[in-house]
Amino acid sequence: MLNNDQLYENRYGKKSSHDLTNIDLSPLFETILSRGSIRKFSKKNISEELLSLLLMAAQSAPSKSNLQQYSILIIKNDTIKNKIGNIIGKTKWALEAPLFFLFLADIRRNIKITNDRGYTHKNNNLDTFMNSVIDAALSMQSMITASESIGLGVCPISMIRNIIDEVKNICELPKGVFPIAGLAMGWPTEKPRVSYRLPQEVVIHHDIYDDKNLIDKIEEYDERVYRVAPILADQQRHVDRYGVSEKGTWSENISRQLSIPERANFKDWLKANGFNLE
Ligand SMILES: Cc1cc2nc3c(=O)[nH]c(=O)nc-3n(C[C@H](O)[C@H](O)[C@H](O)COP(=O)(O)O)c2cc1C
Repeated sequence: MLNNDQLYENRYGKKSSHDLTNIDLSPLFETILSRGSIRKFSKKNISEELLSLLLMAAQSAPSKSNLQQYSILIIKNDTIKNKIGNIIGKTKWALEAPLFFLFLADIRRNIKITNDRGYTHKNNNLDTFMNSVIDAALSMQSMITASESIGLGVCPISMIRNIIDEVKNICELPKGVFPIAGLAMGWPTEKPRVSYRLPQEVVIHHDIYDDKNLIDKIEEYDERVYRVAPILADQQRHVDRYGVSEKGTWSENISRQLSIPERANFKDWLKANGFNLE
């Protein structure tokens, strides 16, 4: 077991300014601190009994007004897995995991219920869209935490939204329902890499929002990440447009990524698929 100072250093690539040694952490807390996404899984299955408990963990997440505006679609059927795997490009590996879930924002169910109870649903708006996305995200995170605490590995998959129309057809998703992300899950055959996060002084603000000296702090962060995990040419974004960056830093790579619109027609897709976003 690592002590708290080592856990901190593994997560940030630098020492904490606090003495963390005297705080007792639970095993679950330690799992959270040292997690990393897993992309390689053994063929060993996850039993129906365990799956049922993992789903319970997902449903134990908080939910806005307990509206529970999400659904979870479990993809185990090989034909469906292959259909999606064959059109998701380099992310095919995710569909080869023992379990693949779609976490769905779902406003359809409560529209049906409201109508059934004789009321008119008047909340197909941006706020409900956001609430449904938050509910789906929290349930996914709750399942992630539960699964990682017993040694399972997972990787969320937003690539699913690059083929959203195809997935909609293959999985027969109705209007008012869309996948916020997929989740690949299985027993890991690789160790998680603990990737350095932005330092707390960049992400955490006290009483007032203050991003003074941001760029200096990002440069320090870049250096720390670069020392242990430089972003090599084959992982750099948009090399065809910008060329290979001599120094593959985090900030260079995310800036390149964010300089080109991703899923630019997503709003139109949502509007055509039951989310009014008013
Ligand atoms: C909403 C979401 C979508 C993601 N989509 C993908 C994906 O499509 N493919 C992938 O390989 N990783 C995906 N990831 C995993 C991230 O790349 C990963 O969490 C991030 O690089 C940090 O690494 P870590 O989870 O190992 O700490 C996704 C993560 C989130 C939260």
